[in-house]
Amino acid sequence: MTGERIEIARPDDWHLHLRDGAMLHTIVGFSAAVFGRAIVMPNLVPPVRVPEEAEAYRARIRAALPDGHPFEPLMTAYMTDSADPADIRAGFENGIFHAVKLYPAGATTNSEMGVTRMAAIRPVLAEMEKIGMPLLVHGEVADPEVDVFDREAVYIERVLEPMRRGFPGLRVVLEHVTTVDAVEYVRAAESGLAATITPHHLMINRNAIFRGGLRPHMYCLPVAKRERHRLALRAVAVSGDSRFFLGTDSAPHPRRDKEADCGCAGIFNAPNALQCVAQVFDEERALDRLEGFVSRAGAEFYGMAPNSDRIVLEKGVGSEAPRERVGVADHAIRVFDPGTPISWRIASGLR
Ligand code: NCD
Ligand code: ZN
Repeated sequence: MTGERIEIARPDDWHLHLRDGAMLHTIVGFSAAVFGRAIVMPNLVPPVRVPEEAEAYRARIRAALPDGHPFEPLMTAYMTDSADPADIRAGFENGIFHAVKLYPAGATTNSEMGVTRMAAIRPVLAEMEKIGMPLLVHGEVADPEVDVFDREAVYIERVLEPMRRGFPGLRVVLEHVTTVDAVEYVRAAESGLAATITPHHLMINRNAIFRGGLRPHMYCLPVAKRERHRLALRAVAVSGDSRFFLGTDSAPHPRRDKEADCGCAGIFNAPNALQCVAQVFDEERALDRLEGFVSRAGAEFYGMAPNSDRIVLEKGVGSEAPRERVGVADHAIRVFDPGTPISWRIASGLR
């Protein structure tokens, strides 16, 4: 039986959590099988702050893959109030840092050492603006007074816009956008601003978190929003606007940490991220733009060539059951299940 097929350049993941230790070993293969490169988030404990830490972490990622595996981890630096512009510049110039990640302190998982005052990081931002180094922003205010569903929109107004006015040449990626406010803000920017979009925010709205009870595996940050926001994300993802590209934000946590009194934020989608995005583009009758979103736009933003090898997706063939979990015992991790069918499979190009 043959179904519909689509062949595209191998995609990249422009926002990925690979963790460390046993968890890294359990999960890295799922991303490395599909994606050529990934921007690797630095929110380990302790975080990746200086080039030496990033080099050591990159070596651990490579060591968790078979020898000679072509997957390329692109490392990032975790911004703190005391980040040193010289360290950041050295890491960028040596090709070890591809970007700096800004977590407002307290905004999400392992952000405790993040930025508490924007004024503190002005020297680093000035340096990054000068050398053309991208700043990746977790765009949510951590202010507990602000409604959790409004934190992205409030961040844009209170923090992002003033920062971009102060550093007009700074290249910024607003990570994992979840609202129509973010979509419109990025679209209206004259230059220097892009955004990543996750598979899950294209597929679920906030109802998924409360369907018949509390669903901890649907909880991530920024939290999924209303349906109108999801529709705006889908529309812009399939629009062909190259400022919007895939960042899976695949963020595994052991089940026991998610199904807990205070369950942590993060959705693990590495095993089906590309299939989910293909499903969305198919539903939106935009499969001809899938390659742009997953394989070209992000590379263009980061000044890299698209991957030269290819991957083939096929619809409605085979009987591969959706994977419910990976790992065992203490490391069991639930895989993202959108609750709607995923008809697309990867037919060839896995490695
Ligand atoms: C991420 C994590 O678990 O590291 N969690 C999440 O909900 N997305 C952190 C992040 O990207 O916010
Ligand atoms: Zn993330």
